[in-house]
Amino acid sequence: MATLGVNIDHVATLRNARGTFYPCPVEAAVLATLAGADQITVHLREDRRHITDRDVRVLREMVQVPFNLEMGCTEEMIAIALKTKPDMVTLVPEKREERTTEGGLDVRARAQDIALATKRLVDAGIPVSLFVEPDAAVLDACKASGATMVELHTGRYAETAGSLQQEELARIVRSASYAQALGLVVHAGHGLHYRNTQPIAAIPGMHDLNIGHSIVARAVLVGFERAVREMKALVAGQ
Ligand code: PXP
Repeated sequence: MATLGVNIDHVATLRNARGTFYPCPVEAAVLATLAGADQITVHLREDRRHITDRDVRVLREMVQVPFNLEMGCTEEMIAIALKTKPDMVTLVPEKREERTTEGGLDVRARAQDIALATKRLVDAGIPVSLFVEPDAAVLDACKASGATMVELHTGRYAETAGSLQQEELARIVRSASYAQALGLVVHAGHGLHYRNTQPIAAIPGMHDLNIGHSIVARAVLVGFERAVREMKALVAGQ
C-alpha cells in the first residue's frame, strides 16, 4: 500500500499572493496530519516564491510525521538542510523561470555534485531521494550516487491521455521495478490528482506519493481535512 506525502507549497502560494500571514502552511500541515497524511513535503525554492525559510524552520518543529524537504542541489540549500535536519531531502532540478518543476534531475550530467551533496546529507543522518525521469540509465546513475530513494516524475503521465498515457504508465511501472531491483526505495509524484492517482498508487512496491496542487485546490472548495482524506483513500487503494 502506498502512503501519502502532502505537499503544502500552494498554501503558501495563496498566502504570498497577498503578503498576508494566512493561510498558514503550519496549520495546513496539522490538518493534513489529522486527516491521515503520512508525510509533509515542502519545496524551498531558490526564489522563495511560496515556502519561506521561516516556514521550513517552524514546520520542522511542528510537523509530527516525517518531514520531506525538496530542494535544488545548491550550496545554499544544502546548508539549510544540514541546519534544519528534515527527515529526508528530495533533490530536484530547479530553474528560476519555470512555473513548476519541469523535468527530472539530470543525475548523469551532475553526477559528481549530486554524489557529493548526497554524501554530506547522508553523513549528517538525512536520507536522500532523487526526483528523476522514469528511465533505467538515470536510475543506474541514482544508485551510483549513493542515494537510497528515488521519486519517479509522473508529470508526463499526468499531462497525457489515452494510449500515450498508458505507454507512460508502463514506463513508470518498468522503472519502479528496475529501481527496486537496484535496492532503491521508490516514490512518485507531480501532477497527480483525484482521477489519475490510483494506477500509480497500485504499482507494486510503490512507497510514497507526493501530491500537492490538486489537494490544495480541492481544499479550497471542500476543506483541507476532507481533501486529504479523499486522496489518502485513493492512495491506499480504497
Ligand atoms: N514531487 C516533486 C519532486 C515536486 O517538485 C512536486 C512539485 O513541487 C511534487 C511532487 C508535487 O507536485 P504537484 O503539486 O503537481 O502535486
